[in-house]
This record gives sequence, structure tokens and C-alpha cells, in this order.
Amino acid sequence: MSMINALPFFKTLYLRPPQNSLGRQRRHTLPASEFRCLTPEDAIGVFEIEREAFTSVSGDCPLHLDEIHHFLNLCPELSLGWFEEGQLVAFIIGSLWDQERLSQDALTLHKPHGTTVHIHVLAVHCTFRQQGKGSILMWRYLQYLCSLPYVRRATLMCEDFLISFYSKCGFKVLGPCEITVGSLNFIEMNYAIQAHAFMRRNSGC
Ligand SMILES: CC(C)(COP(=O)(O)OP(=O)(O)OC[C@H]1O[C@@H](n2cnc3c(N)ncnc32)[C@H](O)[C@@H]1OP(=O)(O)O)[C@@H](O)C(=O)NCCC(=O)NCCS
Repeated sequence: MSMINALPFFKTLYLRPPQNSLGRQRRHTLPASEFRCLTPEDAIGVFEIEREAFTSVSGDCPLHLDEIHHFLNLCPELSLGWFEEGQLVAFIIGSLWDQERLSQDALTLHKPHGTTVHIHVLAVHCTFRQQGKGSILMWRYLQYLCSLPYVRRATLMCEDFLISFYSKCGFKVLGPCEITVGSLNFIEMNYAIQAHAFMRRNSGC
């Protein structure tokens, strides 16, 4: 038998998954779905999704690569990523803010003593949109914020066409945001964590 003909045999022999003591095949695959806070190592994956989602539409991203690094270094606990078999498919990045309303500084600063989570960006990889992932990720993120004792509310700015999406997630319109980016104007929206969190923190879960 030539080496070329023998190769498929060896492949079959060596690539077969090992059997465990119960005779079942062990699986060495990555988890189908995983939610976890992001780390600075995830920054490139985040930026790739952002670039596709925003650059072609508005010419710019909410967070540039250095800003993604900045927030994932300063406050990774305020981010959440959704991974499918190890691949990032959706994410949220937040930081703390200490004023009633958002101002230009909120785009770049993390205020460690703030009680408001400023959600800088939510984005879903283009091939996974319109499948409920954006809503589910936001829901999980808000549930997670309820477990953080220092968080009273979450706030974000969005364009008009996303008001209904965020309203369905439970956000309420606060009014026009003072921040503008180029010619873009935004609406500021708010989600009160405190009342929900109080019930949750006192229910023992
Ligand atoms: C906006 C975004 C996060 C929504 O995530 P998604 O997984 O596609 O949305 P879901 O499947 O959970 O929800 C779909 C709902 O949101 C609405 N929606 C989603 N994207 C929308 C858009 N660009 N414009 C208007 N409505 C939109 C849909 O109409 C749908 O409403 P319905 O339930 O009444 O049919 C996603 O489209 C995305 O990443 N877009 C690019 C980045 C972006 O704009 N991010 C938000 C600003 S930071």
C-alpha cells in the first residue's frame, strides 16, 4: 500500500475521539453557547463586529480599538459577550457614569464611583441578526447588572430608529441627548435597575 493510499486509514485511526470508561465518546468541542464578560484579548473580535456594523453605515464606530482596550482594561465586569462555539457573535460594552445625563465626556471616561452604567455599544454579528440575540443579550446584561450592588440604572444613547428596539428591552426615553457625533443626533434612554435589584437582592437569589 502506498503512503498516499494509507493516509485515510491513519486519519481514521488517529482522529477517532477516545472512549471514556463508560464507552461513550468524549467531546472536545467548545461550548455551543457561552455568556461571559469580555477581556482585552477579545478586543479585536469586538472591533471586527463593530466595523462591519457601523463603519459602512455611519462611517465611524462608537468605540475605536484603543477605546475598546481602554474599557475592557478598566471595567471588564461591565461588558458581556455571547460566544457560539468560541466565536464572539454579540457583545455589550459599558462603563460607569456619575451624572444624571450623558455628556461628551461619557464617551471616553469610566467613573469608578458612578452608579449609572453607560452602555456604549451593543452589536450583533451580521450573520446572527434578527434572531433575537440582541434582545436576549440585553436582557441577560440587565439581569446581570441587577446583581451588582453599586448599579442604580443603565443609560444609553441611540438613533431614533432604535427607540422601539430598546423600549422592548425595557428602556424609557429621557429625551434628546446633548452628545452629537458629526451630523448624528441621539435620543437618551434609561433603564431603572434599583427597584428590580432591590427585589432580587432581597429574595436570596
Ligand atoms: C440593533 C441590533 C443590536 C439588534 O440585534 P438583533 O439581534 O438583530 O435584534 P433582535 O433579533 O433581538 O430584535 C429584533 C427586533 O429589533 C428590531 N431591529 C433590529 N435592528 C433594527 C434596526 N437596525 N432598525 C430598526 N429596528 C431594528 C427589529 O425590527 C425587531 O423588531 P420586532 O421584534 O418587532 O420584529 C443589531 O441589529 C445590530 O447589531 N445592529 C448594528 C449595530 C447597532 O446598530 N447597534 C445599536 C446601537 S449601539
